[in-house]
Parts: sequence; structure tokens; C-alpha cells
Amino acid sequence: MDPFIRTLPKAELHLHIEGTLEPEMLFSLAKRNGAALGYASVDELRAAYDFTDLQSFLDIYYEGAAVLRTEQDFHDLTWAYLQRAARDGVRRAEIFFDPQTHIERGVAMGTVIDGISSALDRGPEIGINGGLIMCFLRHLPESSALETLEAALPHRSRLLGVGLDSSELGHPPTEFTAVFNLARQEGLHLVAHAGEEGPPDYVWQALDVLGVERIDHGVRAIEDDALVARLAADRIPLTMCPLSNLKLKVVDNLAHHPLRRLLHSGVKVTINSDDPAYFGGYLGDNYSAITSALGLEREELVDLARHSLEAAFLPETDPVFADFEHQVGASRLID
Ligand code: HPA
Ligand code: ZN
Repeated sequence: MDPFIRTLPKAELHLHIEGTLEPEMLFSLAKRNGAALGYASVDELRAAYDFTDLQSFLDIYYEGAAVLRTEQDFHDLTWAYLQRAARDGVRRAEIFFDPQTHIERGVAMGTVIDGISSALDRGPEIGINGGLIMCFLRHLPESSALETLEAALPHRSRLLGVGLDSSELGHPPTEFTAVFNLARQEGLHLVAHAGEEGPPDYVWQALDVLGVERIDHGVRAIEDDALVARLAADRIPLTMCPLSNLKLKVVDNLAHHPLRRLLHSGVKVTINSDDPAYFGGYLGDNYSAITSALGLEREELVDLARHSLEAAFLPETDPVFADFEHQVGASRLID
């Protein structure tokens, strides 16, 4: 990877921890937990990662997540991700998790949250700090999301915010108004996946009905000029994930990705990896792939990385901002 990209301090704001489960770890956890797998080998499993759309990915992703059972499993998964991310210059990671998929298999909320959190607590050892964003699965009814929020409240201090993920089409944000209102009353930050496969209208709903602070993906916002103007005017961050969009056929070719057009319209675009174990690359790979596909210049990369820190739920006094300016200044001197 280009050392320029690697050395820029970056935040990763759209990362599903279950989507960092590499096939090798998936097999070793299945063995450790005596869980049955429908695949005979790592190669056979990898060969199944040939997705046609979001749903074809989600089916395999939830199947894979079923090997996660104990607090140690969640800790090991998260620690492996943090080590990998730190090597790409990630200094801040706001990590999504999907408790409903674990709770329905009998895993307790505390097991999931404590396992991930104990790894995050060790992050500073390797120069990375982070937080947890609990996502509601939109293919399940809002009543299930409400029960999930209730079950998480004893762990409130461990949560940064809530989000909304899973199958987008047919599950508009408005269905989750009550649970987002409750989360807001708890002082939690709010984000939602919108405009990945769903129409621009879902992005409007996420903003105006749920009141989210960031939009996850937002690719289809490009279809609606008034929406692009709104995102730019209100400096709403988009957490975009180029390799995910390519793998799930949200774009047919990275050269057609709207990231640069949105950036030049004044939108606070960021780059993220979504589910790196499934989509062929971690954060640095996402920066590299979109840079070569769109011919991004260094100044654009600086803007994208700066946006990621500004869009993070961090105080303006966090030392990472000064480190960022220092690093940008140092690389200008080298050029
Ligand atoms: N979209 C929706 N749900 C998800 C995703 C995604 O990209 N990754 C994991 N769950
Ligand atoms: Zn996602």
C-alpha cells in the first residue's frame, strides 16, 4: 500500500465486527465450539463468497457469525481486527455489531458486548481507540429492535450509538422510528444504513424521520440532486465502502463509483471497509482501490481521511486531530 495512505491517521466508521471473521478463524472457532459447518475447507468457503447482491451476502454472513459463541470468541475476533486496522493507520474504530443474530442463538447480550469491549479496551496498546455501535436488523420487526435496546441498556456505558443494517429493500427507516426515538432519549448517537440498495427516499427518511447523524453507504444519494445539496449543506457524513459496493454489485465497476462526484459536491465523504473478510480488503485496500479506479489526488485523500476523523464521535480536542495535521505537514515536506 502507498505509504502516504498508510501513514495518514484515519477513522474507520463503517465496520461490522462479524464481517471481519476471516475463513481461517471461522474454521478454528467452529472447531473450538463444536459447531457444524456446511463447508469442508477454507477454500470451499472462500469460493462461496461470490455475491450477486446484498441478500446473497447476508445469508452467508449470518451463517458464518453462528460460530461466535463465547466472550473469548468476540474478544479474539475484535482483537484480530484492531491489530489489522492499526497496520493500515486506523487510529479510531467505531465498530458495528449485530446482537440480534447472536441472541437468537442463545448468546447473551453481555457476552457479546463484554467480549468486544475488552478488546477495544486494549486498543491503546497498539495506538487505536474505539467505540461500539449496536445495529438493529431491519429484516426483523421493530418490536425485536425495541427488546434489543432494552436488553442493552444495562450496558449503556459501553455503547456509543445505534445503527440500522441488514436487508434494505422493503424495510424503510420509518419502520424504526420509535426505537430510534428511544435511543436518542438515552443520549446515544444515531446512524443508519441507507441508499445502499434502497432509493434516495430512504436516505431522506433516515435524516428527517430517524434524525441520524451519519448515513452508512448513501451511494444512491447521487440520483437526487436535492438530497446531495442537503447532505452537503448539513455536512452529513457518508460512510462509503467501495469494495463492498463492487462485491455486492451496487456499482458495476469502481470507475463508476459516485464517491468523487459526491466529494466534489461538498459532501463529507469517508472511506470504510464494511465487511473486509468477505469483500477482499481492509481499510487501506479500500483507499487504494478507489484511488486507482478514480485517479484520486493526494489532496483528495487528505480530505477523505480528515473527514473520517471529523465524522467520528470524538471531541475536537482529541490528540488525533493534531497528529493528523502534523502528518499532512510532514508529507508535504517530503514531496
Ligand atoms: N448492508 C447491510 N447490512 C449489512 C451490511 C451492509 O453492507 N454488512 C453487514 N450487514
Ligand atoms: Zn454495512
